Amino acid sequence: MKVGIAMLETPQKVAVGRAHSKLILIGEHAVVYGQPAIAFPFKQIEVKVIVKNIEGNTIRIESPFYQGPLEQIPEKMEGLGDCILQTLKVLEQKTSGLEIQISSSIPIGRGLGSSAAIAIALVRGLFAFFNQELSNSQLMTLVERAETFAHGTPSGIDMMAASSANPIWFQKQHVVEHVKIGAPFHFVVADSGRVGDTYAAVKSIRDKYEIKPEKIEESITLLGKLALEVRQGLAAGDSQQVGDKLNQAQQHLALLGVSDPGLDGLVDTARTAGAIAAKLTGGGRGGCILALVENEQLGKKVADALIQAGAAQTWQYTIAKC
Ligand code: MEV
Repeated sequence: MKVGIAMLETPQKVAVGRAHSKLILIGEHAVVYGQPAIAFPFKQIEVKVIVKNIEGNTIRIESPFYQGPLEQIPEKMEGLGDCILQTLKVLEQKTSGLEIQISSSIPIGRGLGSSAAIAIALVRGLFAFFNQELSNSQLMTLVERAETFAHGTPSGIDMMAASSANPIWFQKQHVVEHVKIGAPFHFVVADSGRVGDTYAAVKSIRDKYEIKPEKIEESITLLGKLALEVRQGLAAGDSQQVGDKLNQAQQHLALLGVSDPGLDGLVDTARTAGAIAAKLTGGGRGGCILALVENEQLGKKVADALIQAGAAQTWQYTIAKC
């Protein structure tokens, strides 16, 4: 009896997978067309996935957006469902007897890489649960499926930045490079509170490209050139140079049609409050802006002004010398 009960119990096993948010400093959208971009790990906000064994023949999802069996996962989370199944296939494990709990402090659809971070944390959590080593290329292959579902034609920058501990120089079909930071740079990130649709924003540029390729190409090429100049400015620790190029990048993003009056308003507010530069970050059309500030004290002033202007939340962010 007592012995019988003990034999029926499966020992509880738990594993955790984590991934942080990302910030694109410069090059969003242009990166889809093969131009280089710079992105930072944004470690203040992150996703945590807990994987546990449970009784039964299903995989149960516990998340703020959905709670239930994997087979009934809502359409907008199908990419993640697929990512779970593919990961289990790679691990040669059955698709039952697991509970996957997802919690995240990364606001969704704000250009902060929440979809990539969730998929990364999921794959890491599942590999940890089955005590398997996860190579970076395995991680990228598995996460790419979920990202393609979320973004259509992702460049891959989100998953690279959300899985990297350091700033990255990213260009499609090239090896990711380290970005030298010659002095600390301070930023304020502000969430407009509005969900941006990266899929639609990328598609809107693609549609324009098909009608007037020269116009789009001009902005895209210039954004690539600006990314190179920002890289030089970061290495030199020159915040004025970096700021000047970030402001120019914002003009091109506006020309490409991915800024909007709400983001323009936050950009103006940040600059008026003393930021050296401000631009949208990520897919745009909602989502977040980032502002470059001289120091943390000014950052506080800019953050307060952004909240006054309607930002839902702000974060101060410093990229250290490296
Ligand atoms: C989204 O964070 C960045 C975009 O450039 C899309 C992508 O690179 O996949 C807008």
